[in-house]
Amino acid sequence: MNGLTGNEAVVMKNVCKDFKVLNRHEGLKGSIRDLFSRDYKTVSAVKDVSMTVNRGEIIGYLGPNGAGKSTTIKMMTGVLEPTSGEILVNGKVPYKNRTENCENIGVVFGQRSQLWWALPLVESFKLLRDIYMVPQKDYEGMIELYRSLVDLESILHKPVRQMSLGQRTLSDILAAFIHNPPVVFLDEPTIGLDVSMKAKIRELILGLNKEKNTTVILTTHDMGDVDALCRRIVIIDKGMKIYDNDIDHLKNYFGSYRTLKLKLADDTWEEMLIDEKTTDVMDVIMARQKETKIKDVKILEISTEDVIKKIYEGSSK
Ligand SMILES: Nc1ncnc2c1ncn2[C@@H]1O[C@H](COP(=O)(O)OP(=O)(O)OP(=O)(O)O)[C@@H](O)[C@H]1O
Ligand SMILES: [Mg+2]
Repeated sequence: MNGLTGNEAVVMKNVCKDFKVLNRHEGLKGSIRDLFSRDYKTVSAVKDVSMTVNRGEIIGYLGPNGAGKSTTIKMMTGVLEPTSGEILVNGKVPYKNRTENCENIGVVFGQRSQLWWALPLVESFKLLRDIYMVPQKDYEGMIELYRSLVDLESILHKPVRQMSLGQRTLSDILAAFIHNPPVVFLDEPTIGLDVSMKAKIRELILGLNKEKNTTVILTTHDMGDVDALCRRIVIIDKGMKIYDNDIDHLKNYFGSYRTLKLKLADDTWEEMLIDEKTTDVMDVIMARQKETKIKDVKILEISTEDVIKKIYEGSSK
């Protein structure tokens, strides 16, 4: 690929991924017909996506359900081959050099564990150390780093199958970093976790990124993850990239938006998003007061959550 600086961890150029899926027909007759059918349609999961992620960056790869995030991650990790376009991860084509690529990357899919179910975590770590041929000194250094970042003792000798979801996610992340890969992919790492566990996971990711300068590509539906971890976000929708810039830039763009919160007579809070450029906040409050009693009013800066909601809504129109 031309025009690279050498500081890129991931480069994607005009990447597309199509899936051929059977056109399914309803009912028993339809199912039988489908068995012999050659009636395929093409689903374009990723359409012409280009982006560059530099070393040490943590980027949020966001988009609504079905946008094509996981498909992109699968291509970057070499699980899927793009239909067209080019990808380089740490300078290598992921689906061509799969073994080599594995050494370059760490992967966590929040929905399922990559660890050996019956083994205590430490045994999984040792297996990974041997698979990736990590020098003993580096391995021990990594374990030391883990000790400084999390309560390692409470999970190290536990079989993965006896762990809580939070402990397992923590373990999965530690396992993904054990061979100190330059790039780590985290696909919804905080899914299903409670507030305090989410905070721990975010701290861990930040700590590892800082200590090892690891590039992190994160997909999530939790805007708390984005606020805590990402300066830059890339948003895709229906397979197409619709935003790629700093999160602050996006908030400035929506800088005139405010979240207006009204406490009603029954102590519930009503929330609405208002553009101060086009709407007078006082007018809205007065109009609402005519309909119902208002006990309290709060006007807040727009949150990341609201910004992203706004963008998803806009692009689906
Ligand atoms: N193996 C497959 N065969 C056919 N279609 C697929 C396959 N994998 C994904 N798709 C389709 O591609 C599109 C993108 O799916 P993908 O899993 O990448 O979305 P996502 O952004 O990760 O969504 P979510 O937030 O729900 O995880 C969807 O329409 C999905 O149905
Ligand atoms: Mg997904």
